[in-house]
Amino acid sequence: MRFGRFDDDTREYVIDRPDTPLPWINYLGCEDYFGIISNTAGGYSFYRDARLRRLTRYRYNNVPPDVGGRYLYLRDRDSGDAWSPSWQPMRSDLDGYRCRHGLGYTVIGSRRAGIEAETLYLVPLGETLEVWRARITNHRDGTAQLSLFSAVEFCLWDAWDDATNFQRNLSTGEVEVEDGVIYHKTEYRERRDHFAYFACSADLAGFDTQREAFLGPYQGWDRPLAVERGRSSGSIAHGWAPCGSHHVELTLEPGEARDVVFVLGYAENPREAKFDPPGSQTIDKTRVRPVVERHLRPEAVDTAWQRLRDHWDGLLGSLQVTTPVEHVDRMVNVWNAYQCMVTFNLSRSASSFESGIGRGMGFRDSNQDLLGFVHMIPDKARERILDIAATQLPSGGAYHQYQPLTKRGNDAIGSGFNDDPLWLVLAVAAYVKETGDLDILDGPVPYDNRPGSESPLHDHLHRCLRYTLDRLGPHGLPLIGRADWNDCLNLNAFSDTPGESFQTTENREGGVAESVFIAGLFVAAAAELADLDERLGRDDAAAAWREAQQAMHAAVRSHGWDGAWFLRAYDHDGGPVGSARNEEGRIFVEPQGMCVLAGIGLDDGTADTALASVAEHLATPHGIMLVQPAYSRYHVELGEISSYPPGYKENASIFCHTNPWVVIAETRVGNGDRALDYYLRISPSAREDLSEQHRCEPYVHAQTIAGRDAPTHGEAKNSWLTGTAAWTYVAVTQWILGLRPDHDGLRVDPCLPSGWDGYRATRRFRGATYDIAVRAPAGGRGRVGHLVVDGHRVAGNLVPLAPAGTHVTVEAEVETDAP
Ligand code: GLC
Ligand code: GLC
Repeated sequence: MRFGRFDDDTREYVIDRPDTPLPWINYLGCEDYFGIISNTAGGYSFYRDARLRRLTRYRYNNVPPDVGGRYLYLRDRDSGDAWSPSWQPMRSDLDGYRCRHGLGYTVIGSRRAGIEAETLYLVPLGETLEVWRARITNHRDGTAQLSLFSAVEFCLWDAWDDATNFQRNLSTGEVEVEDGVIYHKTEYRERRDHFAYFACSADLAGFDTQREAFLGPYQGWDRPLAVERGRSSGSIAHGWAPCGSHHVELTLEPGEARDVVFVLGYAENPREAKFDPPGSQTIDKTRVRPVVERHLRPEAVDTAWQRLRDHWDGLLGSLQVTTPVEHVDRMVNVWNAYQCMVTFNLSRSASSFESGIGRGMGFRDSNQDLLGFVHMIPDKARERILDIAATQLPSGGAYHQYQPLTKRGNDAIGSGFNDDPLWLVLAVAAYVKETGDLDILDGPVPYDNRPGSESPLHDHLHRCLRYTLDRLGPHGLPLIGRADWNDCLNLNAFSDTPGESFQTTENREGGVAESVFIAGLFVAAAAELADLDERLGRDDAAAAWREAQQAMHAAVRSHGWDGAWFLRAYDHDGGPVGSARNEEGRIFVEPQGMCVLAGIGLDDGTADTALASVAEHLATPHGIMLVQPAYSRYHVELGEISSYPPGYKENASIFCHTNPWVVIAETRVGNGDRALDYYLRISPSAREDLSEQHRCEPYVHAQTIAGRDAPTHGEAKNSWLTGTAAWTYVAVTQWILGLRPDHDGLRVDPCLPSGWDGYRATRRFRGATYDIAVRAPAGGRGRVGHLVVDGHRVAGNLVPLAPAGTHVTVEAEVETDAP
């Protein structure tokens, strides 16, 4: 069953009933000001940092769900009938409800008793504010006398403190109201130089700023007193819970439509110009007033909307494809790319599942996210790389996360994840291949952000690989440390204290736990660094890395092969993990995907065997499970993985992030059919018909889908902020379609499924535009042996670099025989 549909022309997902299985959200903002918004107007906003500069309140995991939002209420002054045109929070009966989630904007509309109300929400580019444009239309035969109320609840800035420190924050709230604009200024009297404002384009019949006055004692957002009786009370908040609500009265003739614009924003004043007059406690509004006035004009909204659309057209224009499968087209052309950009903006901070107070930017996560957006925003990717690298430790190791506001690493969620540094090598290689910017490698970057410790980025990358080589175990495989990519495979934690974090607890000394996954990742990273070193003319270093790569490859072949698949790890005492010798957890997906992706086993058939085992033991119709059999009980020697009930999260869910590795692996062994099949199993678009079961948004990937062992097999969780976005994008565009940026040009190396007759693509690459047509004659499942570039035959599959600004046509035909 579906709850909406894709509108591919407008690049929107159109939801046609409000009671989606979970709130289906979208993101507003792509620079400094952000918000999440659900299909029924729930969500919150923040400036830069979801924890420290939160503008509005939202109540996670509440009942009913999705409480706190950008609410509007309508009231018919003649009948007294009142409703929420976005359904929530009143959950009113509505005709013709519709939510259109677009790229950076959302439109929610409905009708009731002949009154149509449609609200567009967006954040104009270059601004630190959001605009809501409500368009109210009277479709009745007679005049309509309406009241329109707006409502937001202000957060007292630090979302954590706001939700916990009531002895203080029930006394600190302060507002000002001037010319109908509501200013939220809690703590502005002391150390904050920032405030929020909420303005309305129409003349006001009233306002409220004290939550209890607006809602009425013991009443909720679903039945505000002010709306019930059709009158605001002009309340001024002193302490308790400041809110913002405008009351507008509208008289609409039959057929008449009226736009009312609301602007909610964030502003800062210079410290020495906070108050007007100086010495008073009144906010100096000289700077903010013109901004508010400009954005309250309805024409300004149209301009902002158009600019936003042009912005997204520009970003997505870096790659557009036409293939025989609509799910591939709409995910590659729109939604998967969009999701990758959202991971750039938000990392893992704010979603329906990330509360905005917990996690900063992950070292591992951010490097992987970069693989999915580097072609759209290479300059910002460069900056991101330098930020991440500057948090690296002199040992080559990494803080597991850093804070976006300070850009400093911290140990808050643990450290010593031994895979972390290797992802930096993959990110830098992807950036250099995309841009050709080898200079980045020479640029000075500090360690641990310490002035004086600067050395070339290139040196950082060397330390990344050395970090692994300095920490090898008895089988010559990398020691796992706290964990590797799988945060929950904690082979050294031995935690038996309730509630203790597996990520920060002290590890048991003296272990020899080794990771085959890190070995695979090392092989991939060493190959990339060797290529980079060659390009810098450091042939000795390149040769050394190739040697290390081969040694690691050999170690995997000798000690990382279990007979029918790659072993996952050796535990603290040297016993196997992910082996046929285990009772539970006999096969894991990560080493199968990563080792084959890195090229291990391609020459001796073990890659094929490993992938056959994945198909046999791990693949389900809903995607590939992380491990089988699931752990049925807690294993102290394995850690958090066995803390999850079977079928959930790392304990044998379809942990989607790993699936594209297997997709890539399948292309490496030339199996385009299986690659596409796996790709589609987790594709949100291809799962749209299963929306009732899948439950999360059908337009973005989720981190996890419950596995076969779970009673809710097929149910997704943790949508939006996941490494699945980047890796899926890489898998389908670079490996199935085979459009792979390389140091000396653009590779066209597709591995197509047998039913395809080809595809077309337009790719911007280093300033030139490539129009690519790939043909696959019937039965053609082989690779591309030569190209025709602007009419000239080129041997191999590399399109040579063209000068920036030029247009290049590329024709390719896959050969009839499989390789
Ligand atoms: C989460 C983390 C990611 C980790 C994965 C597997 O997605 O953000 O860093 O690799 O879980 O544990
Ligand atoms: C938990 C989750 C894992 C995530 C980690 C982040 O362990 O299961 O997916 O990566 O928390 O701290």
